[in-house]
Amino acid sequence: MRTFTLAAAACAAVAVLAAGPAHAQQAQYIAANCANCHGTDGRSAGGGGMPGIAGLSPTYFKEQMKAFREGTRKATIMHQIAKGYTDEQIAALADYFSQQKK
Ligand code: HEC
Repeated sequence: MRTFTLAAAACAAVAVLAAGPAHAQQAQYIAANCANCHGTDGRSAGGGGMPGIAGLSPTYFKEQMKAFREGTRKATIMHQIAKGYTDEQIAALADYFSQQKK
């Protein structure tokens, strides 16, 4: 019984810890998928017309990602990429990239 209580307490502690920074941490992991094209932390080297995505306003960012996903913004590749992310993940990415320096 004692072991069970301890285990339950440990689980609760993990759940509390995960609730806070998980959003930011998850965003950082997902953002790594964007670095190949958009540069580390979204700072594009500017070559090949690749847009930088660091420092974009979260509202603009979310609008563009949803427009790519829905096909209302024409794209060469982003329409396929945007389909792989949920609204929550896009919101987390929008927060993350808006905090990166251009
Ligand atoms: C294979 C290369 C590639 C990858 C990987 C990629 N992008 Fe893009 N992204 C582009 C290109 C190219 C454009 C310009 C639109 C187009 O032609 O698709 C673009 C445009 C954008 C724009 C619009 C920028 C603006 O100024 O309007 C946003 C936002 C964006 N990408 C976010 C992301 C995010 C977030 C990820 C990672 C989840 C990502 N991209 C991964 C190639 C890529």
